[in-house]
Amino acid sequence: MTKSGSSFSTRAIHHGYDTQSQQGALNPPIYLTSTFTFDSAEAGGEMFTGEREGHFYSRISNPTLDHLEQRIANLEGGEAGLATASGMGAITSTLWSFLAAGDEIILDKTLYGCTFSFMTHGLPRFGVNVRLVDMTDPTNLAEAISPKTKLVYFETPANPNNRLIDIAAISEIAHQVGAKVVVDNTFATPVLTRPIELGADIVVHSATKFISGHGDVIAGLVVGSKEDITQIRLVGLKDMTGAVMSPFSAMLLMRGLKTLELRMERHCKSAMKVAQALQSHPAVERVYYPGLDDFAQGDLARRQMSGFGGMIPFEVVGGKAGGIAMMNRLAMIQRAVSLGDAETLIQHPASMTHSTYTPEERAEHGIAEGLVRMSVGLEGVDDIIDDLMQALSSHNAYAAA
Ligand SMILES: Cc1ncc(COP(=O)(O)O)c(C=O)c1O
Repeated sequence: MTKSGSSFSTRAIHHGYDTQSQQGALNPPIYLTSTFTFDSAEAGGEMFTGEREGHFYSRISNPTLDHLEQRIANLEGGEAGLATASGMGAITSTLWSFLAAGDEIILDKTLYGCTFSFMTHGLPRFGVNVRLVDMTDPTNLAEAISPKTKLVYFETPANPNNRLIDIAAISEIAHQVGAKVVVDNTFATPVLTRPIELGADIVVHSATKFISGHGDVIAGLVVGSKEDITQIRLVGLKDMTGAVMSPFSAMLLMRGLKTLELRMERHCKSAMKVAQALQSHPAVERVYYPGLDDFAQGDLARRQMSGFGGMIPFEVVGGKAGGIAMMNRLAMIQRAVSLGDAETLIQHPASMTHSTYTPEERAEHGIAEGLVRMSVGLEGVDDIIDDLMQALSSHNAYAAA
């Protein structure tokens, strides 16, 4: 057996790092250096032209980031990886690398609020044609796509409501016209879904979330072919966004990856119990959890995901006012955006993460005004359920209304 092994956790702990290359240090050292010296002026010039390999400036590459990039590429089943300063840095660096004025991008209708805002307000200012289709039915993409389409972009499960998109079906349609498929895999993580293995070209992450797992870093990751990642590194990241990750953040993400599979197992197990408890409560109107029997896309969830994740969007009786009142009665569960942390977090998308949509857009894009979104943490599951039950027990006023 090689040290890198074949199981997910073994690779998440060992892949791409040889302790003996770093004086036996169990963890890779943090290379806190902005620049790197050259043996000779000629060597420096050759690095700039790409004739010689090596690090020369940390906006382009850094050994600490190298370790993380190799590890995430391995875990996602891609050839190469790229670390960025944030999830938005990963998304924008990727998109700026492949789009030019006159090109078209097709998006699924349900996206994280700032992604939606970048796509629908940012890209059109630079002459990119942006089209939105409901990709839960792949035939909608087949009808909309054309040779002008350069990229197809979606999240699965989507933020905030856990809609799923069939990665294999969408990739097949996109590839017929030569479009690249970019998937935001933040909610699933490579533990539960590996889009590249299903046909997608590029995976982006807000590594701020489950991959970090501890709510202490803002970070992004991209995985794809060597050619695509080189293009994103040298165009989108180096020249257009400059959204490079700090070596400190890379160290935190390497630490997070070591426990990712373990944490995801716990997130999934607890979320299933919490979703069932919510589903059977009279003050809860709907729970959108892929593991529940009444989840609309259960077949796809079982086919595409090896677990159903830690995210539970749900609606309580009383719409927005009811949801906000319930949130305010929680004692242990924290009112905060973000997700994937040890702490259970709850937020109200319409007034928070998805306030970048107009109310009309939210209605059109299936984001209910009363929806609350919970990220189930790693606390004892009974404590999470108890807190929700006490917050819902005084919800009778709404239930009766
Ligand atoms: C699905 C998804 N993609 C991207 C982002 C943006 O990531 P970041 O906040 O790390 O820039 C987020 C943030 O919430 C997200 O939920």
